[in-house]
Amino acid sequence: MKYIIAPLLISLANAGDCDYKPGNDVTDHSKSAVDALKLKEAVNAGDTEKAMEIYTNPTTRSSKKPQDMATKDWAGAGAPDDIYQDYVAVLGENFLDGYNIDAINCSGQFEGQSSDICKIAAVKNALCTSLSYAFYEFAKSGGDAGSEKNWDEGFAFWHGLYDEEIDGVELGSNSAAAVQSSRDSNYKTDHKGETCQRIKNGQDKDKAAKKKELDGIAASIAATFSQATLKYAAEMLQGEDQALIDKKWGEGYTYFRCGAGLMDKDLAMYIEENFSPLTNEKMTDDTVLCGIASKMAETKDLGYGISMGDLQLTNFETLADLETRCSITIPVATMELADSSSAIKSAGLIAVGAIAAVIALV
Ligand SMILES: *[C@@H]1O[C@H](CO)[C@@H](O)[C@H](O)[C@H]1NC(C)=O
Repeated sequence: MKYIIAPLLISLANAGDCDYKPGNDVTDHSKSAVDALKLKEAVNAGDTEKAMEIYTNPTTRSSKKPQDMATKDWAGAGAPDDIYQDYVAVLGENFLDGYNIDAINCSGQFEGQSSDICKIAAVKNALCTSLSYAFYEFAKSGGDAGSEKNWDEGFAFWHGLYDEEIDGVELGSNSAAAVQSSRDSNYKTDHKGETCQRIKNGQDKDKAAKKKELDGIAASIAATFSQATLKYAAEMLQGEDQALIDKKWGEGYTYFRCGAGLMDKDLAMYIEENFSPLTNEKMTDDTVLCGIASKMAETKDLGYGISMGDLQLTNFETLADLETRCSITIPVATMELADSSSAIKSAGLIAVGAIAAVIALV
């Protein structure tokens, strides 16, 4: 018996991560996760000089430096840049590099902020920076100048390390994919699985198919960062000391920025104007949390066809009473799932059925 069940259990366990197999070697690109970890260590140790060096000129990788990712000219490099421009429309020009430098140095737009806010903003915006570059690669792959390798690079920048651990960085950690996993575990959703399925569906396909899958990737990532925005907006209200409140606030706001260009523009502008610690006073009651929740409830399409219902907010204990707390009704889910995910799910059920049949027979 155990010889039959063990491999099945192992493959079911691995299904939690993305088992995409890049056709090109994009290991180097996946090391953006190593830079993100090193940056985090330097920032948290208060070593601004070292953090700035990792940001501008790390030794980890031969090609992409974090600052180069943050300042990439998508259109100049032949990638359709609508997604990038959607971020600019909400967050302004230079929204990645300016925020990274000011957060690392705790100066400029972060002047007067606590070191807790600066640190978490620098650490999390490193993930937003790699995510933005993943979108650049996916967009380029679906455009005239793109290639299959761009698609694989998009996977690597989104996912982080995928074939071996390097410098103690685990596979798929310190990346946007890892944030998707964490929010999925909070809300009992599978948006990371959706992103993964979309990347698989676009592999070795023509540009039209890649563009379609990119819309699906944008949808699942918009869902994750919408979940993150509300999680931290609620948790900061529970913070007992200012350091914890600032950490949650900085995390929530920076994660909002990760997805800002994927969200409905009015919704994103509302969050930017009301939730940014850089332009707002400290929040002590439900006004902002419920303001964002109400705006989401009344926005039919939060971005790329997802609705507030797709966030499964009430599965997360802290938000279980969100509807009564904010006097809202959460609309039903509308997200269109990736084509083969239902096939895979039924294959999973068949596998479970097969195990049951084997057990019954033995
Ligand atoms: C870092 O902050 C200091 C002030 O604290 C400022 O003089 C310096 O110009 C800043 N450096 C950068 C790169 O922004």
